[in-house]
Amino acid sequence: MSMPARSSPFFALTLAALVLGGPAFAAAPAPSAGREVVLLDPGWRFALGHASDRSRDWGFGGDMEFSTIKHWNGPARPDFKDDAWRLLDLPHDWVVELPFVAAPASDELDYHGFKPVGQAFPATSVGWYRRHLALPASDAGRRLALEFDGAFRDCLVWVNGALVGRHEGGYAPFAFDVTDLMECGRDNVIAVRVDATRAEGWFYEGAGLYRHVRLVKTAPVHVPKDGIAVAPSVAGRGADLAIRTSVANDAARPAVAALESRIVDPAGRTVARFTDSSVALAPWSTVEVRQALRLDDPVLWSLESPRLYRLVTTVRVAGAAVDEVTTRFGVRDIRFDPGQGFFLNGRRVQINGVCCHQDHAGVGAAVPDSVQRWRIARLKEMGVNAYRTSHNPPAPEILEACDELGMLVMDETRLFSSSPLALEHLEAMVRRDRNNPSVILWSLGNEEEDVQGAPLGRRVAETMARTVKALDATRPITYASNSGYYEGINQVVDVRGFNYHMDAIDAYHKAHPALPLFGSEIASTLTTRGEYARDDARTYLPAYDTNKPAWGELAAEWWTFYAARPWLAGAFIWTGFDYRGEPTPFQWPCISSHFGILDTCGFAKDLFWYYKSWWTPDPVLHLLPHWNWRGREGKPIEVWAFTNCDEVALVLDGKPLGARRVAPNGHAEWQVPYAPGRLEAVGYKGDREVARDAVETTGPAARIVLTAVGPGSRIGADGRDVAIITVSAVDAAGRAVPTADADLAFDIKGPGRIIGVGNGNPSSHEPDAVPDGGPARRRLFNGLAQVLVRSRGGAGEITLTASGAGLAPAVLTLRAEAR
Ligand code: GAL
Repeated sequence: MSMPARSSPFFALTLAALVLGGPAFAAAPAPSAGREVVLLDPGWRFALGHASDRSRDWGFGGDMEFSTIKHWNGPARPDFKDDAWRLLDLPHDWVVELPFVAAPASDELDYHGFKPVGQAFPATSVGWYRRHLALPASDAGRRLALEFDGAFRDCLVWVNGALVGRHEGGYAPFAFDVTDLMECGRDNVIAVRVDATRAEGWFYEGAGLYRHVRLVKTAPVHVPKDGIAVAPSVAGRGADLAIRTSVANDAARPAVAALESRIVDPAGRTVARFTDSSVALAPWSTVEVRQALRLDDPVLWSLESPRLYRLVTTVRVAGAAVDEVTTRFGVRDIRFDPGQGFFLNGRRVQINGVCCHQDHAGVGAAVPDSVQRWRIARLKEMGVNAYRTSHNPPAPEILEACDELGMLVMDETRLFSSSPLALEHLEAMVRRDRNNPSVILWSLGNEEEDVQGAPLGRRVAETMARTVKALDATRPITYASNSGYYEGINQVVDVRGFNYHMDAIDAYHKAHPALPLFGSEIASTLTTRGEYARDDARTYLPAYDTNKPAWGELAAEWWTFYAARPWLAGAFIWTGFDYRGEPTPFQWPCISSHFGILDTCGFAKDLFWYYKSWWTPDPVLHLLPHWNWRGREGKPIEVWAFTNCDEVALVLDGKPLGARRVAPNGHAEWQVPYAPGRLEAVGYKGDREVARDAVETTGPAARIVLTAVGPGSRIGADGRDVAIITVSAVDAAGRAVPTADADLAFDIKGPGRIIGVGNGNPSSHEPDAVPDGGPARRRLFNGLAQVLVRSRGGAGEITLTASGAGLAPAVLTLRAEAR
């Protein structure tokens, strides 16, 4: 469908002219005119099918499969009996529910966290989802679209037995117009067959409908999905907003629409408004309308103060509002400079970034919204200011959290290719994410070793770059390459990303002084939370800054290098969080990576404080290891302090053990013969004491402690909201026991269910997911575990109980409240 662009005359309104004296824009969302969004997360029936045996795939398949619109066999048929299938709510990842599979040496399995998914496991690589949806008769005449935020991986979708469409690819959002197929005034059946036989990555990817699904109802004249782009450019004391809005007329009659764009500032006041009063729409056509607005003295979006504006788009036909869409955006100025790095709102900002995969403890790829937000908040606490969505388009909630909390994003597509499929994914990502102020870079891919230095790589990158720029020309394009060449993809990028290879960077900068450079991936430092010696049997690595793979760097190595080169814009650490798969340097029984600065639960490893020391301004002092070394009395223990103090003095039970000067970007270190007691570090800036930290020998664990973190102990009674509970153990004196490893049982009462448990142990084969809602079990790993509790839908008190042999139990009351 062609989209003729139409320009409106430039229209400027000052803030003064627009504070109309009327009431402030209400905080509650305005009525959405003809648009209605129905979240389809609850109430799906699920069963595994089979990738190669039709008799075990509920009869799906056969020669005549695609010969007629109506599906003859299997679960796609509306009358198929699914009563015996499991009832569940999305988001859902079935792979995290499967048992681990021991395999001493298998690339495919270790990539995917030793879970049975892929070509070798046809019986667990296909999942079927079915759901009923009653539509009122009054929906007749509306346009209906089924939207998926992403699914892993290949989907066939039917409505009432008729094939709606096919989508390939595990990360891009997709949508189908189902107007022809839905029956209004009746029950409808949606069936989805998800086939995860083929992988896209060398890391855990999960499987199923692991992101949100919606039905969007609109009038025939409406704004199509992701059809709005608002691009602010800061100019002088104001900002020019270039707004592009697609308006579709999905009807046989021509229409004339009025398109209003209204800007609401972070305080809720309407500050600009413009209406195109006669948008002519031919039958079955879409036009793009361009509008320009100016904001005077805008409130800028920044990392410290991530203030968001709203663009409220209203479409009217014959005076009646037929559609209304609210788009959040931020006004900020970004710039990469080849000699000085990255600038946000005119100020240099060192990119202190992390790369992240998308899985979390307990839930795999189906990460609840509140957990997404908590993960971003945890990174922010460490001083991280940038997030790379390696190596795929993220769940939209990650970007929402980055927008709201103040985190920059390098947004990466999965497939480096100019195939129609790859361009469709890339386009879907850019359309969806172009209004998120957090996004500062579009990444075309990662380490395409065969083509990145070749003319083929250049040609493909050119086509991809053209595709991106047509949708959003306000952000630079980059690519994460793992060598020091210039030809190929790097002839196309606006900003050059280096993965590792620090030895090539200086020469590269000299040879290409006009190209801004940054570290798209760095470090891969290897640590295990709470472990202080290598243990090959249990696959643990010490949490000091001492281990890295052949291609990686220690934290202090890479950071010292980058900190000394202000022309480098900064870098993204591999990785923020541990993730399943890539158990480098181990194999089975190790099921997860060791690269994270936080573990799979989001518990900090010691390196968290190394980065926090050099990435945040306030005094930081963190002592390691713990001080429970029974049996090692008199033997030397390596004691480190991660700190940004000038000097640190160490004291064991009042006995001084010496002070250490701390080199910039370094740490302090002692050898201390072990004796139980209290080891305390005192940090100084100049002569002034500015920080203290202590580790203390504890008694055995006596009591369990449950603490609600993240959103806290109050959650929405909406069947979706999730509480994040930290489980720990204290001794008789109430001191946290860092070595506690008790096997704990969790029970739950009230309108909540346990959806997953975890502890960050990279060789634990305990079940993560809790498909039946609880009770559940999990061991503490080095003193900690995590329980995720989801609302069941009703309001009221939820009681979570934790018990374990020889320990006083803990009871935590959560409150699910109607909001
Ligand atoms: C990189 C790669 C990442 C991950 C990492 C492990 O080369 O881009 O996906 O595999 O190595 O160190």
